[in-house]
Amino acid sequence: MELFDYSALCLQPFRNTLSFMFFTFTILFFLFSLLIFVLRLKPWCQCDACRSYLTFSWLKDFNNLCDWYTHLLAKSPTGTIHLHVLGNTITSNPGNVEYILKTRFDNYPKGKPFSVILGDLLGRGIFNVDGDSWEFQRKMACFELGSFNIKMYALELVTAEIRSRLIPLLSSAANKDNNILDLQDVFRRFSFDSICKFSFGLDPECLMLNLPVSKFATAFDLASKLSAERALAPSPIVWKIKRLLNIGSEKQLKGAINLVNELAETMIHQRQQMGFSKKNDLLSRFMASIDDDKYLRDIVVSFLLAGRDTVASGLTSFFWLLSQHPEVESAIRNESDKIMKPNQDLVSFEQLRELHYLNAAVYESMRLFPPVQFDSKFAQEDDILPDGTFVRKGTRVTYHPYAMGRMERIWGPDCLEFKPQRWLRNGRFVPENPFKYPVFQAGHRVCLGKDIALVEMKSVALAVVRKFNIRVSDPNQAPRFAPGLTATVRGGLPVMVQERGD
Ligand code: HEM
Repeated sequence: MELFDYSALCLQPFRNTLSFMFFTFTILFFLFSLLIFVLRLKPWCQCDACRSYLTFSWLKDFNNLCDWYTHLLAKSPTGTIHLHVLGNTITSNPGNVEYILKTRFDNYPKGKPFSVILGDLLGRGIFNVDGDSWEFQRKMACFELGSFNIKMYALELVTAEIRSRLIPLLSSAANKDNNILDLQDVFRRFSFDSICKFSFGLDPECLMLNLPVSKFATAFDLASKLSAERALAPSPIVWKIKRLLNIGSEKQLKGAINLVNELAETMIHQRQQMGFSKKNDLLSRFMASIDDDKYLRDIVVSFLLAGRDTVASGLTSFFWLLSQHPEVESAIRNESDKIMKPNQDLVSFEQLRELHYLNAAVYESMRLFPPVQFDSKFAQEDDILPDGTFVRKGTRVTYHPYAMGRMERIWGPDCLEFKPQRWLRNGRFVPENPFKYPVFQAGHRVCLGKDIALVEMKSVALAVVRKFNIRVSDPNQAPRFAPGLTATVRGGLPVMVQERGD
């Protein structure tokens, strides 16, 4: 037996040299990229907005970055600003939004910077691709999601989740002495169960508070959070090096994505064995035309991301607004009393269509608190926006639904007020120009789950409002948002729940 490994000894200096070369190369590459980054973004820019951004002095006057952007955009005569330090042109001008999302859609793709950031989690899923791959998935998904049957199927799933889990959970909270509950957490669990059932035909049982939180939900949460945090790094090179060396948050992200992949693969295999032709879930529908397992995984993971936190976010701010506006809550109850039977707990599809005031209230709450507060594209070529703003090739161009909902020039002097009636004409809901209200995006890439999201939000809102009084524990505390892909309130939404008639 050899006591000493001579080969290791011989290789040692070589290995050290290799590591040294690799290290030096990485550092040089990092410095070079930082230089390019610095030159492009102009961190020395001395304009007020850039200085405020770099010194965080905006925090003195605003709770949220989106509120500060709203202030800047309202002051700008064109409704557009450019933050040099971020290389980001931000607009609240509906004419520009139409131009970016429709007229020159070809010049404003999602672009590489974002598809790289989200690529490990989303792969080639619809949310993360441009060009042919997007067009193919969009066509297929439009066909699947556009049908009346799939909307009915979504309502059935949501109704079952409300009846068997949400109502019992809120009732049990109402009957406890300390009846405070984090409503945001409840809605996140609710929407994760719903979107998993809808996408995979799988029930992660997140809303069963007596069960441990599903491994899948935890891994998915962590993977989305860490992927979004990549965008906060001062330069992409930082997270790319961490990924290369498999350290820190990138190591955690890899672990979380591996778990998401394992679970997604298991589900795909189960579905294949069970036979999918008679199933309604999206995975089964896509399986009928795609037999590449990795592609199927990517498609479905995009749907989870698109449909989960958005709905939870929309419902959370809806209840925050409602708790400050009891008159809107009463109007929703009165309208539903006219359309639903006295003891009817859950609403039917036909009845939902007749609830114009409820629809207006949901639209109005997302005007003030859109779940996706801003969304960016990258200019492929130099261009000039309709308001005269010059856009250099490669610039990030962001439209900002949060700011747009608060612009006097778009919504009038009462733009900051929560007024569902602004959406009604003679008691009937009248939609607005989608480029004025791009909450679901607009144009060629408009959200594919809009109708399903609205069915889900309205069913939950109505079921809860009819049976409970929900009061926010600290109604004077305006929401403070955590950074991320979807608006999430820091610290959740603690509420008191009381059963009506108690
Ligand atoms: C209130 C809830 C929702 C809001 C506010 C919302 C908003 C949005 C927005 C702003 C986009 C554009 C994102 C981008 O391109 O960067 C989008 C895209 C998308 N949404 Fe939604 N969404 C909601 C719910 C849903 C649900 C429930 C589903 C699925 C059942 C869904 C499926 C999609 C898909 C597949 C896309 C990608 C469309 C494409 O790229 O062609 N969404 N959504």
